[in-house]
Amino acid sequence: MSREPRKLLVTGGAGFIGSNFVHHWYSQYPGDRIVVLDALTYAGDRQTLADLEGKANLRFVQGDICDRSLVDTLLKEEAIDLLVHFAAESHVDRSILGPGAFVQTNVVGTFTLLEAFRQHWMLAEQPATYRFHHISTDEVYGSLEPDDPGFSEKTPYAPNSPYSASKAGSDHLVRAYHHTYGLPTLMTNCSNNYGPYHFPEKLIPLICINILMGKPLPVYGDGQNIRDWLYVGDHCSAVEAVIRQGTPGETYNIGGNNEVKNIELVEMLCELMNEMAPEIPVRPAQSLITFVKDRLGHDRRYAIDATKIRTELGWTPAETVEGGLRRTVAWYLNHQDWWQPLLSAEYQEYYRQVYS
Ligand code: NAD
Ligand code: DAU
Repeated sequence: MSREPRKLLVTGGAGFIGSNFVHHWYSQYPGDRIVVLDALTYAGDRQTLADLEGKANLRFVQGDICDRSLVDTLLKEEAIDLLVHFAAESHVDRSILGPGAFVQTNVVGTFTLLEAFRQHWMLAEQPATYRFHHISTDEVYGSLEPDDPGFSEKTPYAPNSPYSASKAGSDHLVRAYHHTYGLPTLMTNCSNNYGPYHFPEKLIPLICINILMGKPLPVYGDGQNIRDWLYVGDHCSAVEAVIRQGTPGETYNIGGNNEVKNIELVEMLCELMNEMAPEIPVRPAQSLITFVKDRLGHDRRYAIDATKIRTELGWTPAETVEGGLRRTVAWYLNHQDWWQPLLSAEYQEYYRQVYS
């Protein structure tokens, strides 16, 4: 069925999930206009969008979501009707070292976007089609005991890290803008993603890269913490389903139904590397596993109850954890040119602070 082309503003579109989403959306709707707004912090990289450079329907703007006049200008001059908000400070360990940037981008930045979009929407000729889609995380719900049911949309918020607290703050603002002003918001709270363009500081790329470099594989605490892993392409298809069919004002939880203990995940990655990378300097890669001091306030278990998005919107993940990890390991083996430059002096300093 034909549809009116949409005009998207994608914040954080040069980061891990944002860039995968831009690729996903472009492949589905090449006639739509996509404007990417990204500050290119340490976690943002234009190379993630290199193959789309020069496409007439894609515009990249380097800028901060806290810059109200820039956001106002983009919304107006591009006649944006769909804002998809990925931009954030996203790494828990960095939020423990320096929480200020998290409050600034995640809370003040989201507030700036909401205010700008509200004004833009109030002046719109067809406001009913407008959407503000806020990307959030399962971490806002806190930590589960071993036998607790997964987080549902009704689970009370209990964020435990400065990162998750700042995301919770932004979620509450989004909720309030719908409740108070009727702003047509959508919100998704997703579990741990993995896949191409995942920044080296996060567990899965860090383990792949350290194996390739013959470096210790740091596992926090006893390695028994559990995360629910979702291939990033499945996150993108879920966001698309919510944009297409979700009800304004509603929240949808997204998860892979793939709960894995950290130590088991690391062992799976070691096995894949032993098999797929004959040149690794230390083998078996398992011999590099090193238990290190635990993360402060480390949440024990996350799990998602994705019943709502499955039953109301018909979304289910396409990738298994075994298939997704194999694809991801292959991607990191074939894209050393992408991740090598990210291991900068600044990154080494960050690594030293967390791991020594
Ligand atoms: P990321 O750190 O890889 O990318 C964040 C992007 O935002 C970067 O490109 C960065 O340059 C940009 N950015 C940061 N501050 C900015 C600012 N002030 N103005 C403009 N751009 C700015 O993060 P990610 O892992 O891709 O996460 C994207 C979103 O998804 C975040 O909102 C995160 O909370 C959420 N999320 C992530 C996961 C996950 O597993 N990674 C899971 C659930 C939800
Ligand atoms: O649950 C969704 C969240 O998943 C997102 O909101 C965050 O943006 C994203 O970073 C991710 O947070 P985590 O803290 O769960 O991801 P991370 O990859 O940092 O860690 C995954 C698990 O592995 C966690 O239990 C901590 C552990 N870990 C992590 C690192 C970096 C280690 O044991 N060693 C490590 O070196």
